[in-house]
Amino acid sequence: MASNLREAIKILDRNGLVLRIKDELSTKYEIPYIVSRFEHEKALIFENVTGYTNFRLIFGIYGDRKRLALLLGLKKETDIYGKLLDAIRNPIKPSKGGGDFSINLTGDQVDLKKLPIPKFYEKDKGPYITAGIVVAKDIETGSRNLSYHRMTPISKNKLVMRVVERDLWSYINNARKEGKNLQATVVIGVDPATALAAATTLPLYNDELEVANSLLGGNLKVTNGLKVDIEYPANAEIALEGEILVNENEYEGPFTDITGTYDIVRKQPVFSVHAIRIKDRPIFHAILPAGTEHKTLMGLPREAKIYGIVKEVTTLNDVYLADWGSGWLECILSIRKRHPDEPINAGMAAITAHPSVKKVIIVDEDINIRNCKDVYWAVINRANPARDYLIIPRAKGSSLDHSGEPRSKVIIDATIKGNENIFRKANIPVSERALITLKKLQDNY
Ligand SMILES: Cc1cc2nc3c(=O)[nH]c(=O)nc-3n(C[C@H](O)[C@H](O)[C@H](O)COP(=O)(O)O)c2cc1C
Repeated sequence: MASNLREAIKILDRNGLVLRIKDELSTKYEIPYIVSRFEHEKALIFENVTGYTNFRLIFGIYGDRKRLALLLGLKKETDIYGKLLDAIRNPIKPSKGGGDFSINLTGDQVDLKKLPIPKFYEKDKGPYITAGIVVAKDIETGSRNLSYHRMTPISKNKLVMRVVERDLWSYINNARKEGKNLQATVVIGVDPATALAAATTLPLYNDELEVANSLLGGNLKVTNGLKVDIEYPANAEIALEGEILVNENEYEGPFTDITGTYDIVRKQPVFSVHAIRIKDRPIFHAILPAGTEHKTLMGLPREAKIYGIVKEVTTLNDVYLADWGSGWLECILSIRKRHPDEPINAGMAAITAHPSVKKVIIVDEDINIRNCKDVYWAVINRANPARDYLIIPRAKGSSLDHSGEPRSKVIIDATIKGNENIFRKANIPVSERALITLKKLQDNY
C-alpha cells in the first residue's frame, strides 16, 4: 500500500503505468491537452514545466479503479468498495509525525503565482487548483472534514472556492453563527487513501481524517499547522494554511465540471492564505476536470455507497457510474434477480443512495457493465419501453444537470424477461487453432 504520493508513483512505475514527459510544456492548455489524450492509460509526470523548474506536475495518479486498487494493496477493483465501507465503520485516530516542509512562506512571501496551477479549458476564467483537499474542523462537533474544492487565485494570497451544500458548507455556516472565520488547510499531493476519503460524503459527525487513516492501515501521520490550529496529512507535497472568510464571497467561474460543460457562475467563499508550505523537489498534483481521474475519484465513493444499499434489496454483482454518463449521472447495476420486479427496487435503492443519478439501467450478469455497447445492446433487446422504463417525474437531482426543473429520473429494467434462450447473445465456439490464427492475423495487422 502506498503511504504517500511518491510511493504511489514508484508502485505505478513498477507496473509500467507512468508516462514521463521531458519536453518543455506550459501549464496553460499544453499540459492539460496531453493529459486529455493519455490519462485513461497511465499517470503522467511532466518534468519540464515552463516557468516552474523546481516543480514536477502529476496527473492521473489515482486515475482509474485499477490504479487505485493497486495502490491500496487490493487484488480486484471491486474490493475497493468493501475496504472503503470497512474504513468508514472503523475509523482510527491518526498519530502525529512527519511534515518536513523545506519551504515555508508566510506574510509577504505568500504568493500563489509560485504554484504551477494549470489553465485547462478555453473559456475557464483562469488557472485553478483541482486536486486541493480542504481539511477543516467543525466548530460545533469538533469533527474534521476532507473535501475537494476547485479554487482559483483572485490575488497574491486569496482564492475563491466552489463549495456545494455539503459538510464544508455546514462548517462555514456554523463558524459564521459563532462570529468566526473558519480555519482550514488545503493539501495538495497526498496518499491514495486520503485522496479517496476526501471524495467520500459521510454524516457530519464522522471524522474523515480518521477514515483516511483507517483506509491507510493506521499509517497516516498528521502534522500541526504553522499558522492554523488544524492537523493535516503530513505526507502532503504542498499545504496552504489559512482561513475561509465567512463574510466574503466572490464570483466563481466559469469553470468546467465533471460533465465536461461549464458550471454556472455564482458568488462563493473566499480562502485567505496565511502560509504556503512546500516539500523538497515538490510534485504538484492536478486533476483534469471531466477527465478519468476526476470521474474515478468522485464516482467511486458513490459506487461504494450504492453497492452497500442496493445489496440490501437484491443479489448485486457489480455497480458502475458510467464514464459515458459523466461518471456521475448514469448508474449501471448488474444483478441476479429473484423476482420479476426486483430490478425496479434495485433502481430505486441506487437513486436513494446517490440522488444525483438521473438514469439507472439494470442488467443481468452476462452483460459487461463497463462496456457502453454491451449495456445498450441489453437495453434495446431486453427492455420494452412502455413496461420497463419507469419515469420518476420529480426528485432531488444533481446541481450539474442543467436539463431543467423539476429534476426527473428514469429506471430501465434491461434484464431478461420470459424465455431466456431468445435473449442470450449468440456465441461462436472458439478452438485452439482458431485462436492461433487470430493471434497471427492480429500481429501482422
Ligand atoms: C476532483 C474532484 C473535484 C471536486 N470539486 C468539488 C468542488 O469544486 N466543490 C465541491 O463542493 N465539491 C467538489 N467535489 C466533491 C466533493 O469533494 C466530494 O463530494 C466530497 O465528498 C464532499 O465532501 P463532504 O460531503 O464530506 O463535504 C470534487 C470531488 C473531486 C473528486
